[in-house]
Amino acid sequence: MSSFDNILWNKSKYQSLEQQQQQNTNYVNGNSQSIITLLLIGLLGTAVITTMWSIHSPTKATIFLIDTKLPMLHKTSTRFLSFGLDSSLLRDPKTLPINNEAFMNLAKYLSPAYARIGGTSADCIFFKQNSDDISRTYDKFDPNDITNFTLTEEFYLNLYKFTEKSKLKMLFDLNVMIRTDQNEWNSSNAKDIIEFSKGHSMDIDWQLGNEPNSFKHVFNRSISATQLAHDYQHLRNLLNDIGYSSSILVGPETNHIGDSNERGEMYTEEFLKNQDNCIDFVTWHQYYLNGRIAKVDDFINPKVFNQLSAEIKQINNATKNSGKNIKMWISETSTAYGGGAPNLSDRFAGTFLWLDKLGYSASVGVDVVIRQSLFGGNYAMIGNDLLPNPDWWISVLYKQFVSEIVLDLKTPNNFGTLRFYAHCTAKLGLVNRLPALTIYGMNLDNKPKNIFIQGNWIKKKTNIFLYILTADDLTSREIKLNGEKLKLNSDGSLPPFNPVIIKPTQMITLPPISMAFIVIHGADIPPCRS
Ligand SMILES: *[C@@H]1O[C@H](CO)[C@@H](O)[C@H](O)[C@H]1NC(C)=O
Ligand SMILES: *[C@@H]1O[C@H](CO)[C@@H](O)[C@H](O)[C@H]1NC(C)=O
Ligand SMILES: *[C@@H]1O[C@H](CO)[C@@H](O)[C@H](O)[C@H]1NC(C)=O
Ligand SMILES: *[C@@H]1O[C@H](CO)[C@@H](O)[C@H](O)[C@H]1NC(C)=O
Ligand SMILES: *[C@@H]1O[C@H](CO)[C@@H](O)[C@H](O)[C@H]1NC(C)=O
Repeated sequence: MSSFDNILWNKSKYQSLEQQQQQNTNYVNGNSQSIITLLLIGLLGTAVITTMWSIHSPTKATIFLIDTKLPMLHKTSTRFLSFGLDSSLLRDPKTLPINNEAFMNLAKYLSPAYARIGGTSADCIFFKQNSDDISRTYDKFDPNDITNFTLTEEFYLNLYKFTEKSKLKMLFDLNVMIRTDQNEWNSSNAKDIIEFSKGHSMDIDWQLGNEPNSFKHVFNRSISATQLAHDYQHLRNLLNDIGYSSSILVGPETNHIGDSNERGEMYTEEFLKNQDNCIDFVTWHQYYLNGRIAKVDDFINPKVFNQLSAEIKQINNATKNSGKNIKMWISETSTAYGGGAPNLSDRFAGTFLWLDKLGYSASVGVDVVIRQSLFGGNYAMIGNDLLPNPDWWISVLYKQFVSEIVLDLKTPNNFGTLRFYAHCTAKLGLVNRLPALTIYGMNLDNKPKNIFIQGNWIKKKTNIFLYILTADDLTSREIKLNGEKLKLNSDGSLPPFNPVIIKPTQMITLPPISMAFIVIHGADIPPCRS
């Protein structure tokens, strides 16, 4: 207990934290959580933090402790933070500003990333055939539109050029609904797309179909998980034949994970069992809320946040049961389904669930998280006016400060209102190439909270750069960094992100309902030495 010798434990506060965990037992296993914490206190003595009175201040603070021998927990893809463009946007080329310089500029700041072109409408796409009916005008964003439509060679090529110029990698979702009389996938149209892509030297990764466990509900037609596994095998062979053997193939794109009937989990498990290592990552879709009924309070309610951990456990369970060892992508995800919650999913309110999803997913080994959506719907990161929404700013800050190396941050309860994660700092965020780590997260409470970072790796020369994100209102489209409204420069370049610089001996006060990136420069921890 060396580093805790002088610390007076605030027992009653600790107990109230336990009570809070008990209330969350539907979502997390609060009991085993606290037992593990107590074990760690006993066994390790150092790598534990809890709410207590800080030595340095009479004010109550939560201590975050990191061990010197901090192990690397995981290494995610460099495209960990990725985003989607819903296939419904391909219905009407005029609605998608892929030739607009400002739009491309905003997309480029999120690189490296996947641009996933997928969604319900992916299973309605016919490549180049019947090209005379493309003059149809479509309802801008109708997630329920399941009419078939044409994707022209020209538009497909423009879409690819947009991803190439924005330094993004295209992940294209092929139509699995084109089927033979025997209900097998008819790949002839997909073959046209893949051959066309190869002919234009496009570097693309692939998927087949969207939310297949819900096909009965959406299309009044079913494809069994076993059949889909065979269809994926067919696609893998096709890709190999046409020259895409090094392309990644991901699936099965299931949804409704965590529902009481567990059909999404069973479908995923059955699919994994029946495919013979033809997919590189197991993919599923995640939404916390129904966009039509979601209320502003839902966006800061820890119970809503905690759904994610339960759902990830379910997919891990399905993967384990299938006998396969495949890492996971959350390949389509946002706060609320049905196109997002109006004036919430694309406002400051939506940023907390997004940042927590990034932090939690990385901490449990998810390789890629694909945000629905860069553009379109009520959950867009970029508005119809081509100006950034708060989630675009959070994502840019994430790319700036957070690397793919995930560290083990010990917190007393990361399932309540104080939720924090640690990574090595991204190269973009380093100062004089000094090793650094970034602790990021949020205070969902409507009261300020104090935190204090400790560890014997903290030296005299260590400096903490603090970036606190707030807004005047949860429904605000504006977001402030250290009190300054974030705004692009008139030439479209990023504004300077000015930190508040403090010493590690100082306590950090998080304002009510705020997020923070805490970059600790001169933190010489083995996984972060570059
Ligand atoms: C769309 O195309 C598929 C595959 O040919 C077909 O089965 C389906 O009936 C078509 N849907 C509509 C609404 O026409
Ligand atoms: C697959 O679709 C193509 C194009 O519509 C058609 O010519 C072919 O007969 C179909 N193949 C099978 C096996 O259904
Ligand atoms: C669903 O398809 C079946 C035939 O496969 C048909 O009898 C039924 O009317 C369809 N249901 C709807 C709601 O379209
Ligand atoms: C994991 O899968 C097994 C086998 O299907 C099932 O019995 C168990 O309830 C699942 N556990 C969880 C936490 O879902
Ligand atoms: C969203 O906010 C705008 C103004 O900012 C308002 O015009 C619109 O009616 C709001 N939409 C909903 C569904 O509340």
